[in-house]
Amino acid sequence: MENEQTKRYSFIAKAFHWGFIMLFAYGIFKQVDELEQLADQALLEFELAFAAAFLFLLVTRFIYMKKTQTSSLPATTPKLQKYAAKIVHYGMYLCLALIPISGILIGALYWFGIKSGFLIEGVISVHEFSFTLIYFFIVIHISAAIYHRFLKDGVWNSMVPFWREKLD
Ligand code: HEM
Ligand code: HEM
Repeated sequence: MENEQTKRYSFIAKAFHWGFIMLFAYGIFKQVDELEQLADQALLEFELAFAAAFLFLLVTRFIYMKKTQTSSLPATTPKLQKYAAKIVHYGMYLCLALIPISGILIGALYWFGIKSGFLIEGVISVHEFSFTLIYFFIVIHISAAIYHRFLKDGVWNSMVPFWREKLD
């Protein structure tokens, strides 16, 4: 469409976006499958350290994005669509925060000997529900990104380094 749409995210913003996808994939790949696995103290400590680092980087990313970057949706985008994008982006951030927070709570409860009961089961439910929710948001997010790729409005190019739109 309009070729004045040349907005790009900064290198740091892209590094956060793509770096987090790798970090998140790694987190899922090495996931704890059952509570009993946490009896392995080294695994428990590693999980806690990973979750804390993940959370710290997420907060850093969020602050950096809020302070320095804006959405690359064209100014002419309908209001409703802008809200939808906001909800999906914030929704993903919320889930990305809830996952390590609930994970750390699971680990802390286990560490202090609370290995069964409604408390730890409730926190595990939050942990698992956050995954259900984020998978849902990710499907919408990637579909929307591909939709913009076909619209050729610059949104795809602003974040994605492959299958570039040719703005002529
Ligand atoms: C192949 C997969 C993906 C593509 C092509 C893609 C593409 C994009 C594009 C084009 C934007 C800019 C949107 C705008 O300016 O309004 C964006 C932003 C964003 N994406 Fe993705 N994305 C992908 C995967 C993911 C995944 C898996 C997550 C979450 C785990 C994610 C989280 C975000 C967030 C939170 C933003 C808002 C900007 C920010 O705060 O970094 N993306 N993505
Ligand atoms: C960023 C950090 C983390 C990621 C990416 C992650 C990833 C996952 C995933 C993908 C699942 C499967 C969820 C499902 O089936 O819907 C899971 C389950 C689980 N996670 Fe995590 N996790 C993280 C942190 C933690 C931490 C710190 C602990 C505890 C020390 C933990 C303990 C568990 C347990 C016990 C389950 C299995 C629950 C059950 O079904 O019995 N997680 N995690």
